[in-house]
Amino acid sequence: MKGFSIGKKGSFLETVKFENNLEFNLVSRGDGVEILHQTIEEGKLFYIYPSDNVNALEFYFILSGQVVCEFDNSKHILSPEDYFTARGLDEPIYFTALSKVSLLCVFTEQTFVHISKDISSLMEITKQVELKDRYTHKHSDRVAKYSVKIAKKLQLGKEQLENLTVAAVLHDIGKIHVPIEILNKPGHLTDEEFRILKKHPVDGAEMVRSSYYKELAPIIEQHHERLNGTGYPYGLRGNDILLEARIIAVSDTFDAMTEDRAYRKAFKEQIAIDELKKLAGSHYDKEVVWAFEQILKEEGRIN
Ligand SMILES: [Fe+2]
Ligand SMILES: [Fe+2]
Repeated sequence: MKGFSIGKKGSFLETVKFENNLEFNLVSRGDGVEILHQTIEEGKLFYIYPSDNVNALEFYFILSGQVVCEFDNSKHILSPEDYFTARGLDEPIYFTALSKVSLLCVFTEQTFVHISKDISSLMEITKQVELKDRYTHKHSDRVAKYSVKIAKKLQLGKEQLENLTVAAVLHDIGKIHVPIEILNKPGHLTDEEFRILKKHPVDGAEMVRSSYYKELAPIIEQHHERLNGTGYPYGLRGNDILLEARIIAVSDTFDAMTEDRAYRKAFKEQIAIDELKKLAGSHYDKEVVWAFEQILKEEGRIN
């Protein structure tokens, strides 16, 4: 996992070495370094998301309790005196507290977000959706990752950014009610099948509305709306569609295009962004598409 490392109890702690050999000495505090103590209740989920400041670093030392984190397709359990660091992370890392956890955090920019218990169970449902649809493995994580980058480029505030991140992870949660045969159908959907698929934004919003994070419901509900009113479920237009939903629409479409589907091979990233640009203003928000294009250019993924 790029930008993320864990250290087990007993490994050298005073100086944490990062990939580029920069040394972060816990004793001599640099400018803007914050040190704080966090407590996380058992069963809660939290995550750290990528910062776009390349110099931002984060260090977490476990004082008591256990957490599990998942990356590179394996689970890692961290116990007291283990630690983890993040610097130049390229995707969010999720953790679950297996017991009440007490953490010592040292960071230059906090990208640590608590997620309430009912959201963590919704996130579990998202994972089940991805298991149902063999073409959407990690789709939600990538949509969240793209959305965070776009939001940062557009300088959204911290609270909006956090809501957007969680909404992006959950955007397709309503697909849990769509039969597996429809999700994996290789050919075109019949009108009736499409009608069933099109219910997922409303179903998803409903599932979230009964949780602590009800304010995410409209974002999830609107992720298939398009600026010219041709989207669903309501045919909303322009700025009647929330900015967060307009951002997810772009990330979601881009990810769908650049991954294989039952009925076609993946498109190249350049082709996908060119397509989004053609539809900017009519289907997708121009500024959002522009921001995303800049990000892909900066990452050297397109010309
Ligand atoms: Fe969707
Ligand atoms: Fe999606």
